Amino acid sequence: MQIKEFMTQDHRECDSHFALVEEALQEGDFKKAQEEFEKFISHTLRHFAQEEELLFVEFSNATGMSGGPVEVMKYEHSQLRGLLEQLKGALVSQNAQEFFGISEGMMILLQQHNMKEEQMLYNMIQMQLGGRNDELVEKLKNF
Ligand SMILES: [Fe+2]
Ligand SMILES: [Fe+2]
Repeated sequence: MQIKEFMTQDHRECDSHFALVEEALQEGDFKKAQEEFEKFISHTLRHFAQEEELLFVEFSNATGMSGGPVEVMKYEHSQLRGLLEQLKGALVSQNAQEFFGISEGMMILLQQHNMKEEQMLYNMIQMQLGGRNDELVEKLKNF
């Protein structure tokens, strides 16, 4: 499997966790919503770490490039981390209205972020690091 396929598939897996959170909330099941949210947040934070601690570092080393798309993605991760914390707070206080008020904007930001990676950055990463594809996919799996 290619690095970019692996990471794209991971975006989809995070999305499906989130869909289960929304489903549980629509049924008024806060306990289930919190459980599913824990899965969503830990999967998403692991994904960010795979990018920030491995792929982006290796990519920057290979290109000698600092700043640029990698810095933009890292900045968006920090915005998203903040929104995820707010969402967690809304679930703890069992406030579905507050949750949906924040989650709409969070999902727009996340989907745009993922699209930029899938359409641009992952292709650049695949081109630069493709020679080490299997080694890097193995490392990603072990995160
Ligand atoms: Fe990202
Ligand atoms: Fe990503």
